[in-house]
Amino acid sequence: MHSVTSQKKTSPEAHANDATAPLDIKALSPEAISTMSYNELIGLVRETNRPPGGSKAIMEVAHQCFLNPGKTVLEIGTSTGITASELAQLTGCKVVGIDINENSLAEARERASRKKVAHLCTFQKDDATALSFPDESFDVVFCGNVTSLVSNRDKALAEYARVLKPGGLLAAIPMYYIKEPSDQLVNDVRKAIRVNITPQYRQDWENFFKVSPFATLSQSNFSFDELPVSTVDAFCKMILKRPHLQSLPADSQQALNKIYTEFMQLFRVNLAHMGFSTLILRKESPDIDAELFTSSKI
Ligand SMILES: C[S@@+](CC[C@H](N)C(=O)[O-])C[C@H]1O[C@@H](n2cnc3c(N)ncnc32)[C@H](O)[C@@H]1O
Repeated sequence: MHSVTSQKKTSPEAHANDATAPLDIKALSPEAISTMSYNELIGLVRETNRPPGGSKAIMEVAHQCFLNPGKTVLEIGTSTGITASELAQLTGCKVVGIDINENSLAEARERASRKKVAHLCTFQKDDATALSFPDESFDVVFCGNVTSLVSNRDKALAEYARVLKPGGLLAAIPMYYIKEPSDQLVNDVRKAIRVNITPQYRQDWENFFKVSPFATLSQSNFSFDELPVSTVDAFCKMILKRPHLQSLPADSQQALNKIYTEFMQLFRVNLAHMGFSTLILRKESPDIDAELFTSSKI
């Protein structure tokens, strides 16, 4: 079993929210839209981007991490902030959401205000592999499927361990293939998310997360439901009708409709090959022995 370690940060740093300049939608050209990755499009269309498992997974994490108003949570790759706002609204906990995409963070702040949890949620630009928080700052670190997008995953995991308090919980929801994808499918997904992914299977993520100082407290495995083309089309039409998108020039609107719908149909096919696990892991103290006689549900 290998362990993850990271350089200690001892001095607290300032964490003021980045003042985010909103996208100048009227000036967005069709070319600019066609070169956006899916993660950039999320910020543009202001999609409610949920973790794998959606609201059920958020609820499960809230319960399993015993969240309450005394707890502080760091959400990695918050995107447009639905998980952060939901956790705050459901439990009264404090949440710091971080992401590398400022436009998504701007929408996350708006969402927290709309949901009346802005006093509990802070959003800032930060990188999973170089978090700007002192050691042992958080009771819970939540990372949906974000770690799969990070090239230096070991560094990210070491950072999650570093910022967790002793006994703190890591909630991770990694996605993996349960049916082997074609090379074409994997390549198309790589282009859409602009990340050079290699297909991961459940065992890969178990090997990744189940390392010292983490001990697994619970794991639930799921597969994604298969959806008809028409359901995804109807969802895209609803998103693309949003009032703020109507100020795009007509040719840019067409480019957006094309690329967004293509990506969502691609994800429909891709997710039909995939499953995910909700993992709750605890940062254990070094003086505790690993569990020897482990068990499985029968
Ligand atoms: C698909 S979205 C998030 C989905 C959802 N929040 C979840 O839990 O799975 C992935 C987000 O991760 C962000 N991201 C990618 N690399 C990152 C990094 N190194 N540090 C922080 N955020 C990152 C992207 O900008 C994007 O908003």
